[in-house]
Amino acid sequence: MTEPDARILWQGARRAIAGAAPQRGEPATSPVARYLDPARHERETRALRRLPHAVGPAARVAAAGDWFATVLLGVPVLVTRGDDAVLRAFINVCRHRGAIVAAEGECGSGRKRFVCPYHSWTYDCRGALVGRPHEADFPSVPRAAAALVELPVAERCGLVWVVPEAVGAFDWDAYFGPLAGELERLGYDASAAGPHERRFVQASNWKLVLDANLESYHFQYAHRETIAHLFHDNLVQQQSFGRHQRIVLPKRSLAEAPGDAASWELLGRHSNIIYFFFPSTFLLWEGDHVNGFGITPESAASAACASWMLVPAAGHAKRAAEHWSRNWKIFWDAIDEDFALAASMQRGLASGANRALNFGRNEFACDLFERELEAVLGADDSRVP
Ligand code: FES
Ligand SMILES: [Fe+2]
Repeated sequence: MTEPDARILWQGARRAIAGAAPQRGEPATSPVARYLDPARHERETRALRRLPHAVGPAARVAAAGDWFATVLLGVPVLVTRGDDAVLRAFINVCRHRGAIVAAEGECGSGRKRFVCPYHSWTYDCRGALVGRPHEADFPSVPRAAAALVELPVAERCGLVWVVPEAVGAFDWDAYFGPLAGELERLGYDASAAGPHERRFVQASNWKLVLDANLESYHFQYAHRETIAHLFHDNLVQQQSFGRHQRIVLPKRSLAEAPGDAASWELLGRHSNIIYFFFPSTFLLWEGDHVNGFGITPESAASAACASWMLVPAAGHAKRAAEHWSRNWKIFWDAIDEDFALAASMQRGLASGANRALNFGRNEFACDLFERELEAVLGADDSRVP
């Protein structure tokens, strides 16, 4: 991330708050079936399983023997750092008769073996089957054919990313493009600390959560009691990077900042920047840290949310733990308001009152996200029935 990049964003944000024509798109609609239909949910799940999702801070698997087990789009996932220092991800399912091997939701370090709780088939941290009781009873299943099923995995932007289907080689550089490099140049790499995490099930369609976070139209109303006073009304500076998006949200304080002193440091102080990695990862750069979440569907009307704070290694020691805790709370106080409204919308859409969501010209980033997903699904259900 270079200073000229910062200057372009800085000048764009200043033009926007000075009253130049704000960035707008076309009005759009999104049919309610996208958020209610179980068949649509099944199609989305199949498509999303072939795409990358962030599953946790890379710092959690920094050393050989570190591991964690999670569930992604219904797929049990095991992430390990091998004794060869290689990061791997597997479907966390025993090749004997399919039991979950490592306990879901748990993590640890110094682990050399993963033992299935059912009949003790034993895997090493590279996924190889290295032992099983009564070996001679399995003449038709050689050990070499019974390793854990490996998944594509990468460490980028301080997070571990996994494709939860065994799709073979995955082109990570093509997926991330130049956008991940921006965050990484600010120190969000595998050494970034992850001081806070949160997981819960959200009572709405996953897309409603992302729609709620890709516009600032709602800030002055939905966030009246929390962050509204910090931000300009109804302003975004959006840029697409393939299917991903970067959105600059200027703060009111930007008006008093020196106009010609653009830098990432000033940009971080006087704006927030959303890095949205399609389809499910929302990262908010807040100057000296990133707060973010991944949101993936569990059903048409519920979603799994995993959230993390990331702090660059160089900045962590500069502030007391209380600083990071306070910022985590500020983030979640506001984001909880968005999630509650998404749950309200889910109930509202199920009522049958509306046939479609209406996106205004100021909500074009929501429409861009929805359209990219339509493209992935190969769907053409954009017409309101
Ligand atoms: S299912 Fe894992 S050892 Fe039998
Ligand atoms: Fe919000």
